[in-house]
Amino acid sequence: MRADMDLSETKAYLIERGFTEKVDAAVILGSGLGGFAATVSNAISVPYDEIPGFPEVTVAGHGGDLIQGIVGKKRVLVYSGRFHHYEGHPLDRTVIPVRVAHAFGASSLVVSNAAGSINTRFSVGDLMLIDDFMRVGFKSSTGTQLAGSRYDNRKEIALAHKAGLDLGIQLRQGTYLFVKGPVYETAAEIRAFRYMGADAVGMSTVPELLEAQKLGIKSLGITLITNMSTGVTKAKLEHGEIKEVADSRKDDFGRLVTEILQRI
Ligand code: HPA
Repeated sequence: MRADMDLSETKAYLIERGFTEKVDAAVILGSGLGGFAATVSNAISVPYDEIPGFPEVTVAGHGGDLIQGIVGKKRVLVYSGRFHHYEGHPLDRTVIPVRVAHAFGASSLVVSNAAGSINTRFSVGDLMLIDDFMRVGFKSSTGTQLAGSRYDNRKEIALAHKAGLDLGIQLRQGTYLFVKGPVYETAAEIRAFRYMGADAVGMSTVPELLEAQKLGIKSLGITLITNMSTGVTKAKLEHGEIKEVADSRKDDFGRLVTEILQRI
């Protein structure tokens, strides 16, 4: 699908499948956090590969579902599974979920991800609110999509901190560094990133947050620290651990996102 293609066909198809025309908010679930989808009530779920205009997913096990339903008192779109740039999707296609959310009138977006911690004060399992980000290693040809140098979500950060306090869930706050991946960083890269002032490193989220801002959608990025980055500890990174950590934090994550959706 072209970046400028309008999404009326996509929206019409989803309405045919039972979606309501207007939602309050959208949620994009990061690696291992797909369990949140099960907490949506009155859910209608459509596999990505059936949705016209959605990017084709070729990597086995990286498909996904778009769910519409109710969380608390809000009608939401929940994206379980995302389109990563490192899988070969051009940046302007990785943001199609945000554009579809906009087409459904969503006024806010919560984007989650799994990331490695650069900050030595953070621990595996911590939840971090993204207050700014860095884009490292992207060619200038992708610059248009990543344009925008002032990302402002101070209000959303403040309300998320209040939600965390009320729920008794400790939250971190920091800078997310977006790398292309898919390879993990070297210890030397992580030392450099720490020196630059980044707190966590991952391979997603920034295009979605920038797209939301462009479309006038309030946004909040939530990072789950699934591992300490390369060289921070002696442990070797294993993909299986991401799932394990995400599972152990899924209840708090779900309560937090649900509460944020009511307040945002
Ligand atoms: N680096 C990059 N992306 C990641 C990591 C990491 O250590 N952990 C989860 N996603």
